[in-house]
Amino acid sequence: MKKLLSVAAILLSLSAYSGQQAVADNTPVKVESRVGNVAITDNSPADAIATYPTRGKAIARSFAEQPPLIPHKNSYSISTDKNGCLTCHSWDKAKRMKATPVAKSHVVDDKGTVNGMNYFCVQCHVAQADNKQELVKNTFTTK
Ligand code: HEC
Ligand code: HEC
Repeated sequence: MKKLLSVAAILLSLSAYSGQQAVADNTPVKVESRVGNVAITDNSPADAIATYPTRGKAIARSFAEQPPLIPHKNSYSISTDKNGCLTCHSWDKAKRMKATPVAKSHVVDDKGTVNGMNYFCVQCHVAQADNKQELVKNTFTTK
């Protein structure tokens, strides 16, 4: 009996699905704004597109243990096979690229193999644009 009931239930639910697909309701959907029919009069200008210094020069740190800010663009891709940041900042390439090698705290051996926890650089380091716009008002001071 139980089995029969569950088979009936499955059949019922199946027919319910097919029924739903078959119904073609052409009545237009009435979408209405909650504020009523108000014309848009205020167009805010688009935010300025960030421009980054082409030649990065280290930015002074504001507090101890701060992840230094990135003084250049940060659109280098980071994937499991390739880390765009390490093409300049890895221990073996940094000198040639005139970039600071990743911190000692980021590596697991004396060859400069980056620790997994430090692999996704932009999780901690943020780029600073020249035309910086405040997204959120900030009153932070170091004093
Ligand atoms: C084309 C080479 C190149 C690439 C790629 C690159 N950087 Fe840089 N980076 C530099 C140079 C050059 C500087 C300026 C010298 C310095 O301070 O290291 C710099 C500076 C920095 C600094 C400041 C270091 C300090 O001591 O203040 C950070 C942080 C940094 N980069 C992070 C990154 C991250 C994160 C990425 C990937 C999104 C990245 N960089 C990709 C060349 C590069
Ligand atoms: C978990 C947060 C975190 C991640 C992820 C991270 N860093 Fe850092 N980084 C820091 C902090 C904090 C410092 C400063 C303290 C220190 O030197 O350990 C720093 C310092 C640095 C410095 C300056 C080193 C020096 O000698 O002055 C460079 C360059 C740097 N990081 C690059 C990178 C790159 C490239 C990556 C990605 C491969 C990366 N970091 C990932 C937090 C992080």
